[in-house]
Amino acid sequence: MGHVQDWVPVLEAATRAPSIHNTQPWRFTAGPDRLEVHLDTRRALPAVDPTGRQQVISCGIAAEFAVVALRAAGQAADVEVGGEGDHLATVRVTGAAEATDADRALADAIAARHTTRAPFLPRAVPADLVDSLQREARSYGVWVEQVSSNDAELVVAHLLSRAEQAEQADAAYRAELDSWMRTDPAAPDGVPVEAVPGDDPAARPSNWLVRDFLAGQRTPQPAAPVADDDPPPPVERPAVVLLGTDGDDRAAWVQAGRALGRLLLALTAAGLSASPLTQALDWPATRTRMQADLSLVGHPQMLMRIGYSGAPASATGRRPVGEVLRTDE
Ligand SMILES: Cc1cc2nc3c(=O)[nH]c(=O)nc-3n(C[C@H](O)[C@H](O)[C@H](O)COP(=O)(O)O)c2cc1C
Repeated sequence: MGHVQDWVPVLEAATRAPSIHNTQPWRFTAGPDRLEVHLDTRRALPAVDPTGRQQVISCGIAAEFAVVALRAAGQAADVEVGGEGDHLATVRVTGAAEATDADRALADAIAARHTTRAPFLPRAVPADLVDSLQREARSYGVWVEQVSSNDAELVVAHLLSRAEQAEQADAAYRAELDSWMRTDPAAPDGVPVEAVPGDDPAARPSNWLVRDFLAGQRTPQPAAPVADDDPPPPVERPAVVLLGTDGDDRAAWVQAGRALGRLLLALTAAGLSASPLTQALDWPATRTRMQADLSLVGHPQMLMRIGYSGAPASATGRRPVGEVLRTDE
């Protein structure tokens, strides 16, 4: 990476990373052979993410997307986690390495991946896919647990709905969410209305309550009458997974983000989609409750539904690379 321009395609890939409310809370400093990833605290979300945990995870995903883009371009790279102040991690190019088909498939998944909040198809996620995600995450020091027993499913569904209710009742949460909603599909950040369900997520025949981005803006609809001979509604069959770490500091959050980035690309490459369900982890009360009620060893960092989608998901905007890149040459 001789010249700063060489970083532009890598940063175009890195900034396709998903981020909480599409805040894109990152800044990068590029030098020869190294890219520093910084948290941009001006884009903080004090109501939903008071500790910055989910924004640091988002930056970890961006770091991993940079590594994936570099590998596909024939450059080996690793990530050193840690730094002073807002400096979270450094991506280092370590030499040339011929890209494999698998490297290229992961890099292609960067543009193909979108958060899919619509109900998934009633098709089960293969168990060996979940196994491979677990193995992959472990190499980052991150565990992945599938929420599969009836008891665990009840605990998680209950906490999700409690958390969603508490958040909707919180004026600061609602104001912050509204301020990141976008009606212009060409907006460079925030969540476009096209990307979120227009129907009430709570009315779906699913335990897996997606975040309601339009709470308070929808006119309540009376429930449709059900006739005796109506066929049962299709029920999605997602795999719901929790990602977690032993520690709960910034380094653990970056690692959780890196593993999450890998997992999202691997499952996109395998033809699946995902959406985070992080309401239950936003605030300490429900997050601690989740830890206790599921007897988790360590700290939950991400809850996510994975499944097959029947419809294309909407793309979301990104700020241009020039806005997030500084050079130290
Ligand atoms: C740490 C984190 C938490 C997120 N939490 C939620 C969530 O609770 N509900 C949801 O629908 N999307 C959630 N998202 C998805 C973002 O809203 C999404 O990534 C962003 O709007 C950009 O869209 P894209 O993923 O389609 O590129 C989360 C993403 C990250 C990285």
